[in-house]
Amino acid sequence: MDLKGKTVLTGIKPTGTLHFGNYAGALKPAVALGHEVNQQGGRHVMFVADYHAINALKDAPLLKRLTREIACAYLACGLDPNKSYFYRQSDVPELFELTTILMAYTPKGFMNKAHAYKAAVDKNIAKGEPNDAGINMGLYTYPVLMAADILAYDTDLVPVGKDQVQHVEIAADIAGAINAHFGKQVLKQPNYFTTEATEVVPGIDGRKMSKSYNNVIPLFADDATLKKAVMGIKTDSQDINAPKNPDEILLYQILKGIAPSGIVAEVREGLEKGGMGYGTIKKMLLQALIDEIGEKREKYNNYLTHYDEVEDMLKTGASRARKLVLPVLERTKDAIFDR
Ligand code: TRP
Repeated sequence: MDLKGKTVLTGIKPTGTLHFGNYAGALKPAVALGHEVNQQGGRHVMFVADYHAINALKDAPLLKRLTREIACAYLACGLDPNKSYFYRQSDVPELFELTTILMAYTPKGFMNKAHAYKAAVDKNIAKGEPNDAGINMGLYTYPVLMAADILAYDTDLVPVGKDQVQHVEIAADIAGAINAHFGKQVLKQPNYFTTEATEVVPGIDGRKMSKSYNNVIPLFADDATLKKAVMGIKTDSQDINAPKNPDEILLYQILKGIAPSGIVAEVREGLEKGGMGYGTIKKMLLQALIDEIGEKREKYNNYLTHYDEVEDMLKTGASRARKLVLPVLERTKDAIFDR
């Protein structure tokens, strides 16, 4: 992909304590993409979407903790705050001015059909509750704020998981509606590209790795906690010497998402031939986890204990970001107020 001169933007919602599923599926590829964009001479924008989070998360101390954790995690995993634009959404007030402007040009029907809202309504109907029970306006208009996040930077590309595709399409449609109204390009229409995680790491019980299933391998836990999680991975009682199909074995699937290819190949062969026991594989997996995360974990803990430095980075990131947003906002106000 040619990224020279392109603006690539991603928002991350602080929703839960990080685990290896997030790491393999989101964190690691996002940081790698950032390096790629910066290297090719594009512009990489990445932010913590704390205003999106408050729609669902009302526990302020928890929100504070999760925001800190996610910022420290991205930095520990190598996001370069001097090259990428890294900030907290709530530190860029121009986004909220733009949101209000976009609202006026957003057909309400766009929101009615947005997946997240529709899913919430369907859930209410299934429970026999009123359609909009427990649904706040922030959830309803979530795609407009997200459109502001994107349009504020004249973003070209938004890397997204499948669940966010519609949101980027709505952003492009809102920009399109404004441009059509004024008969010129006021806001740039973004494109998305899907980043379906190449590696899906299942949880230790075989279901999707998720805190709500209580089946995670936590990302920055100490060795003893990692060990406990790895030892808890569900195994079957096949004979150690029986030849096995690795793709049907949970332990292998988890290993495959995390360990270096040499180790994955070795375990694959050991399972296919028979003779390699689950205990051995668990030890190899644990070592692979520690090798992958050890140094990053140290950085992460260091950032958390010196959080004021991270706070400075985010604040600096926000003031750099505001310099990009301001001309876009001014251009938009020039159009809507005929200034
Ligand atoms: N809605 C995204 C999510 O839930 C987070 C997000 C907010 C975002 N603003 C964005 C993603 C802008 C991409 C671009 O994951």
